[in-house]
Amino acid sequence: MSNAGQAAGALFRRLQGKVAIITGGASGIGEATVRLFTNHGAKVIVADISDVPGSKLAESLSSSVTFIHCDVSKEQDVSAAVDLAMEKHGKLDIMFNNAGAGDRHQNSIAEYEMEQFEAPMNVNVKGVMHGIKHAARVMIPNRKGCIISTGSIAGIMGGTAPHAYTASKHAIIGLTKNGAAELGKYGIRVNCVSPSLVATRGVIDFVGKGQDEVEAWGCRVANLKGTILKAEDIAEAALYLASDESKYVSGHNLVVDGGFTVVNHDWGLYGP
Ligand SMILES: NC(=O)c1ccc[n+]([C@@H]2O[C@H](COP(=O)([O-])OP(=O)(O)OC[C@H]3O[C@@H](n4cnc5c(N)ncnc54)[C@H](O)[C@@H]3O)[C@@H](O)[C@H]2O)c1
Repeated sequence: MSNAGQAAGALFRRLQGKVAIITGGASGIGEATVRLFTNHGAKVIVADISDVPGSKLAESLSSSVTFIHCDVSKEQDVSAAVDLAMEKHGKLDIMFNNAGAGDRHQNSIAEYEMEQFEAPMNVNVKGVMHGIKHAARVMIPNRKGCIISTGSIAGIMGGTAPHAYTASKHAIIGLTKNGAAELGKYGIRVNCVSPSLVATRGVIDFVGKGQDEVEAWGCRVANLKGTILKAEDIAEAALYLASDESKYVSGHNLVVDGGFTVVNHDWGLYGP
């Protein structure tokens, strides 16, 4: 193959030879990312609590995808997923801390049932902390690596999600910045991707409406019209952060919201 052909191939397969763990990879944004990373040449470990869809996804893709049962709120599970990557592939290049739990409490904060605070904090905050910690454990000796976590627009503004979820997503952005601060000296980049509304299984179950209704709602409240945010779009953002194209990007929160969080929709300067 010519040099130009090799360059084009390398650009097409942007994660060739890389090893990734994707938590919450059995569904939604995680699943779309598993598919995209695999298409780009990565070996992927799907780490999820959903055993049947996770195993089926791995079986349906190439032998470069492995499923491991992993509850990210349990440190030993995340540690085991990282150890599996090392045993099977000898390295870990990309850790995508994507698994997340919603907060079903939508009543007033004055009536907040504190036990509802546990799941979002344990899965979203501790889960991301476990992921950063154990990825760093194996990436530091290698002097390189890339850690990505899934935040949310609820991590940069109020009023889009219940309290515990909002607090947990703000914390993920804080961990991203602190992780980048400490791990930069080892050549490890730490970033975050923050979607607005994607009609995944988690959201559909949460709002109790069909995919079409959720997407119609998303379009109605969106700033950017004429298109629908899909799980694949978030996977593309994660691909950018995971690939060498973003080699100098660290501590960044890549917000994928069509401008929703930077516009005051009620001000009316540009009309409806
Ligand atoms: N869909 C959206 O609109 C949206 C917006 C902003 C942020 N997010 C975030 O995106 C991420 C992915 O969510 P999604 O929308 O794809 O939902 P989803 O429900 O389709 O997928 C979530 C996956 O995470 C897994 N999971 C849940 N708890 C887990 C745990 N403790 N350990 C391991 N795996 C676990 C589930 O089994 C599932 O496979 C979450 O962090 C979520 O908070 C989603």
